[in-house]
Amino acid sequence: MPHIIEKLHQDHERVEQLFTKLQATSTGAKKTRENLCRTLAQELKAHTQFEERIFYPAVRESGDGAGPKVKHALEEHREVERMLMRLEKMDVASEEFMDLIGQLQEAVQEHVREEEDEIFPLARKGIEEEDSTQMAIRHDKMIRDVRHHVTR
Ligand SMILES: [Fe+2]
Ligand SMILES: [Fe+2]
Repeated sequence: MPHIIEKLHQDHERVEQLFTKLQATSTGAKKTRENLCRTLAQELKAHTQFEERIFYPAVRESGDGAGPKVKHALEEHREVERMLMRLEKMDVASEEFMDLIGQLQEAVQEHVREEEDEIFPLARKGIEEEDSTQMAIRHDKMIRDVRHHVTR
């Protein structure tokens, strides 16, 4: 089983791919935009939920000044959530929608950078192999459950 931070990195890449696909859609492709936006929101929610319930608490326990970093990351999650809520109410064919997608992409990229640069090294050091494996199993299950809901 890959280390939990490999799993989380793969999630980050998948989210970035969804942004790229969204940016490439034309204004008329309403259904495609809606579907991509829904998938993006679900992936982001599943990922952040996993981090908040399982991953961040483990990082926090690793000590090494992890507390403030996790606190900052949680604030960024809230910001992303607020943007997703605003997106839900928008017309996907509007300019505002794509503007906000751009802002969300930047916010997520910045968050991912900080997470990978500052939190992942702590996790790599502080989380035992066995715990990482347990987390990776729970991660896959949580992501699978969300995808199952979306496709049903
Ligand atoms: Fe995060
Ligand atoms: Fe993340």
